[in-house]
Amino acid sequence: IPVDVFDLVIFGGTGDLARRKILPGLFRRFLAGQMPPDSRIIGAARADLDADAWRDMVREGIDSFGGPELRGHDSLPAFLRQLDYVSVDATVEEGWPKLAALMRPDVVRAFYFSVAPGLFGALAERLHQHAIADQGSRIVVEKPFGRDLDSARALNRTLAEHFREDQIYRIDHYLGKETVQNLMAVRFGNILFEPLWNNHYVDHIQITVAETVGVEGRGGYYDKSGAMRDMVQNHLMQLLCLIAMEPPAQFEAGAVRDEKLKVIRALKPVPAHHIVRGQYDANHEAPSYRDEAGNPRSFTESFIAIRAEIANWRWSGVPFYLRTGKKLRARHSEIAVVFKDLPHSIFEGDERRHRNILSIRLQPNEGIDLTVTIKEPGPGGMRLIDRPLDMTFAKALGEEAAEAPDAYERLIMDVIRGNQTLFMRGDEVEAAWAWTDPIIEGWEKRNDVPKLYDSGSSGPDDALMLLHREGRRWRDIR
Ligand code: BG6
Repeated sequence: IPVDVFDLVIFGGTGDLARRKILPGLFRRFLAGQMPPDSRIIGAARADLDADAWRDMVREGIDSFGGPELRGHDSLPAFLRQLDYVSVDATVEEGWPKLAALMRPDVVRAFYFSVAPGLFGALAERLHQHAIADQGSRIVVEKPFGRDLDSARALNRTLAEHFREDQIYRIDHYLGKETVQNLMAVRFGNILFEPLWNNHYVDHIQITVAETVGVEGRGGYYDKSGAMRDMVQNHLMQLLCLIAMEPPAQFEAGAVRDEKLKVIRALKPVPAHHIVRGQYDANHEAPSYRDEAGNPRSFTESFIAIRAEIANWRWSGVPFYLRTGKKLRARHSEIAVVFKDLPHSIFEGDERRHRNILSIRLQPNEGIDLTVTIKEPGPGGMRLIDRPLDMTFAKALGEEAAEAPDAYERLIMDVIRGNQTLFMRGDEVEAAWAWTDPIIEGWEKRNDVPKLYDSGSSGPDDALMLLHREGRRWRDIR
């Protein structure tokens, strides 16, 4: 279904995110027939380019990062014709009147701030001063949204000077992932799970986002943030909210975000012994984190595991184990709901523990499976084994799964449609920082040194102990 005609201005249009994600994503939406022919995408950046030079840059970006199906595509020239470019600098006046002159009445105007957060204020001010943004305009902002509660509050205040909350779209690309949305479909579209979704039946929940990549060229940024700010405060918290929230009355922005906010506010403070920080070490083939980040004395964590708890009726006493890290054994992101043991086994001689586990695999190999206990085939009596009821989306949905839009393209189309359900509200981001800040302050005060772990492993041994000492174990990173 095509969206309304739009003018999308991408500030930071020559940057990495624009070339790798935003423009290839928009091209895929164009190919899917979702982008009306008179819509425009206007790149805006400091570089003194003309529209053709930017189009060349976009073409290169699509060829390098868009995947084989987009490379050299016949329809690329038609897409590029819908692109334009203006050279602007948030700190000088030049260029802004030209951008203002390009704006058309009666089309959706959206402004993507794909720039350092330090520039958000100046950009908002320029858009206002030159009447480039109007009452219906939307702005899209990227993480990091602050580096603590104070800076996030300051950013919210800055944006609020010129834009209402319903005009601000704070992107967390995890919310645009197909399986993450499926999590809500599974929870609230089936009668089966919701009655069991509480501390009577759930033993614990694990959320793992494991990556094989290191920090590579992003050391400068990453060394000042670390896994807690880069991944936990946003992506893992969002996953936790969707798993733990009460059913919203409607699938609608206000209702969904209210419920997520309640979860974040109910998170208990985390004691130091429920946190494990790690940093990857060098091995014979790969450099260490410190080498890659260019900081030989860095104490920044490239891995973190946390035992979190939610203080409310539904979840009291249920640990939520969160874990994320770089240079781990495999790229593997999964949410696992581990149900409790049976109260009593009727099968004599069966002493093994059988547990139902609902696993939601975010990537790769997206899908959902439910481990169930069945009888081992054969004449050997009632011997029980555990097997998954497997719904790998690629198998169950075939081409439909392959054609699902990627996170960025879906979210950008939601901006044009004016749907904020999958974006973070200002109060949510602040609440997430309010939980994160004391954790970070705690280890800074203690001068905590992260535990070293081998590249290609599952993280530091202490993270294994976090569960072992409670009689539990992490799911394998495969
Ligand atoms: C980004 C982080 O937000 O998410 C990166 O800044 C991380 O450090 C990335 O690699 C992971 O995203 P995805 O979609 O590859 O899981």
